[in-house]
Amino acid sequence: MTELTHPLATVPQDDLVARAEADPLRPRFHFVSPAGWLNDPNGVSQWNGTYHLFYQYNPEGAFHRRIQWGHATTTDLVTWTDRPVALEPSAGPDAEGCWSGVLVNDCGTPTLVYSGRLEGKELPCVAVGSPDLLSWTKDPGNPVIAAPPVGADITAYRDHCVWREGTKWRQLVGSGIRQRGGTAFLYESSDLRSWDYIGPLFIGDASHGDPADTDWTGTMWECVDLFRAGKGSLGSAPSDGSPDVLVFSAWNDGDTLHPLYWTGRYAGDTFKPAALHRLDYGGRFFYAPQSFQDESGRRVMFGWMQEGRSDAAMVEAGWSGVMSLPRIVTPGDDGALRFAPAPEIKKLRRDHASLPGQVLTGALVPLEIGVSGKQLDLELDLQLAPGALLRLGVLSSTDRCTSASPNEETTIELRRATDGTNNGTLRLDRTRSSLDPTVDVEDKSGPVPMPEGRVHLRVILDRSALEIFANGIPLTARVYPTLGGEHVSLAAEGTVQILSLDAWTMAGIYEGTRSLFP
Ligand code: FRU
Repeated sequence: MTELTHPLATVPQDDLVARAEADPLRPRFHFVSPAGWLNDPNGVSQWNGTYHLFYQYNPEGAFHRRIQWGHATTTDLVTWTDRPVALEPSAGPDAEGCWSGVLVNDCGTPTLVYSGRLEGKELPCVAVGSPDLLSWTKDPGNPVIAAPPVGADITAYRDHCVWREGTKWRQLVGSGIRQRGGTAFLYESSDLRSWDYIGPLFIGDASHGDPADTDWTGTMWECVDLFRAGKGSLGSAPSDGSPDVLVFSAWNDGDTLHPLYWTGRYAGDTFKPAALHRLDYGGRFFYAPQSFQDESGRRVMFGWMQEGRSDAAMVEAGWSGVMSLPRIVTPGDDGALRFAPAPEIKKLRRDHASLPGQVLTGALVPLEIGVSGKQLDLELDLQLAPGALLRLGVLSSTDRCTSASPNEETTIELRRATDGTNNGTLRLDRTRSSLDPTVDVEDKSGPVPMPEGRVHLRVILDRSALEIFANGIPLTARVYPTLGGEHVSLAAEGTVQILSLDAWTMAGIYEGTRSLFP
């Protein structure tokens, strides 16, 4: 993470909120900070029924500096209440920033474990909360681990995953070992304050693959998150085939690359990997994910949807960074994970349109589906013949009934392999998504299994924020259209059967003006 400053950093703070709220590209039903900068989700949890989301926050402006912990709560996972800043840098081990971390329940005491930044380096710190989780007191013994493991030649050292196992706490701290690869160091404690170093849980191999690969594991692992997917808890004997999952965000020399996960088995003091997976085909647009198990037993994950516009454009806009919708994580039949937006989100659905089942054939003749907008939830059940292609256009600025080629359009493509197998591809084509030449329009894609050609496609659009799920495989990205287009259309090449199509406009969740310091 590079720290940046900008002349507009001096924009008065009242103006910052007004500036942010005036931006037509700012999402209306995703969580965003009141204004200024947002990055990673932190301390995601449910406490006495209420969900808590903390986040990396800079209320001074839309740039990464002197990071605090913003805080918001919800009882329905849809509408959020801003709460006072939970952690702010102060003289001592977090003087330069309160970086990412987690919340745990220490016998009834809400406790944060986070990375305090000082002199350009991070070390583990602890803070305890009031019973309502609204005020936080830093531990006088911070940092609770005085230095990275002795003798390790590390690339960086920060971010935490903390869980209870038997009578002890265990902790992972994300890191990387030079000339080897990313890693997570394992510690143990009986009080969250005094930690014994055990060793690296598992070390990646940065020499494997090319740094340009979408699954390169990087030289450091940020925001490690270890959990059992499905039934059971970490360290217990698996009663069914539920895999253990080690999620991390691959980082290299200041570049936030992409989230990946290993499935495998955590036992004793090590993790034995079975397979490496891309967590989201949007790469850095769903970065630093963190998950928790809610009171109903669901695994809920949030990720940081980074911007795809320039540092100067962010500062100008007065805000930066979107929190993904909460995602429910489940194990798939193939040993990989599946993701779906939390069903609670359906509460925001408003105007509904549907298409009768029908077959699309031929040469990409566009079909208007009777819905338009910048805030949409689309749900399609499809069957693709071998070799068929489905193209779904959104945020299109030209009515396709009157003109052949829209000036701007964001295009989602599903393609089934010609050989009749279950192999298919999901692709997001942003090359025509914006006339602004400075925004990121890089192609995003990845394989999607399509059993008998069947695909369940869910597309959630919230202005510049786009979350796509194809058979439970996510592709998240940001788009920056300039023309305000709202058209939606479908086209096919080959034969695509639309088994069902439902579309809704989505309501916003924000009312009234928010405050930078609630
Ligand atoms: C990931 C990250 C973390 C760090 C935080 C700082 O995006 O770089 O490793 O703790 O952001 O804001």
